[in-house]
Amino acid sequence: MGLFSKWLRKLRFGVLTENEMQQSQVKSEEIPSGDNIPEHVAIIMDGNGRWAKARGLPRIAGHHNGMKAVKRITKAADGIGVKVLTLYAFSTENWKRPKAEVEFLMKLPQEFLSLELGELIENNVQVKMMGNRDLLPDHTVAAVEEAVRQTRHNTGLILNLALNYGSRLEMVEAAKQLARQAVAGELDPDKIEESDFEKWLLSCGLPDPDLLIRTSGELRLSNFMLWQLAYSEFWFTDVYWPEFSEEHLYDAIREYQRRARRYGGL
Ligand code: FPP
Repeated sequence: MGLFSKWLRKLRFGVLTENEMQQSQVKSEEIPSGDNIPEHVAIIMDGNGRWAKARGLPRIAGHHNGMKAVKRITKAADGIGVKVLTLYAFSTENWKRPKAEVEFLMKLPQEFLSLELGELIENNVQVKMMGNRDLLPDHTVAAVEEAVRQTRHNTGLILNLALNYGSRLEMVEAAKQLARQAVAGELDPDKIEESDFEKWLLSCGLPDPDLLIRTSGELRLSNFMLWQLAYSEFWFTDVYWPEFSEEHLYDAIREYQRRARRYGGL
C-alpha cells in the first residue's frame, strides 16, 4: 500500500499521528467523506496534447504525464471509498490520430501495468477492460488481460480501462445480439426490456456512473457511455488531465455530494 493510501485509510480510522499529517499536502477537511461518496466515477481524461503544447513538449509527453495522473487518481479514488473508476483511455475514434501517437498510446497500458500492477494487487484493486479488442495490438491486449487475470479475485476498487471503446458501437453490438436472440426465437421483441439490452453492454455487471468528470474545458461526451450516463452527475473542469490532482477529484466529489439526484422525480 502506498504512503498516500495508507495516510487516507488512517485518517478515516482516526489514528493519524502529527508526523504523518505533515507528510501530506492534503488537509483533512478537504477529503470527502460520508455515505454519499459516488460508487462509480467515470473520467474523460482530456487535454494531454494541450498540456504538452503549452510547455513546448511533444504530445506524447502529455500522454506520458497523463499516465502518472492515472496512478494518482486511482489511489485517491480508492482512498476515499469509490468502488469503480472508469477511465476513457482510447476511443474508437482515436485511430484517426497520427500513427506514431496511436502507437505510443497503445504502449501506455503496458507501461502503466508493468510499473503499477504490483501495487494495484497489494491494494486489492481489480483491473477490468471495456472496449473492442479486435483492433488493439496483441501486446496491449496481452498486458491488460494479464492484469485482469492476476486481479480477478480482488475485491477492492475496480479500475475499468476503456480502451478502443465507443458507445455507439457498443449499442449496435448489443442490438445485434438481441436481434439474433429474437431470430432464434429465444426472445419476444415485444417483451424486450432495458435490462435485456444492458446485459450485452460492455459495462454489464457494473453500476452506472454516478459522477462523470471531463477535464480540459471541453463540454461533450465524445461517444462515452451514452446509455450508462443517463442519470449521472456531470462535472467539468478547465484543468488539463496531466495536472488533475487529488484535490480536483475531491472538489468534484464534494460538488457531487451537494447535488440532489431526482432521477426524473421530485
Ligand atoms: C485525450 O487528450 C487523451 C487521450 C486520447 C488519451 C488518454 C490517455 C491517457 C491519459 C493515458 C492512459 C494511461 C493508461 C494507463 C491507460 P488529447 O490528446 O485529445 O488532448 P488535447 O485535446 O489537448 O489534444
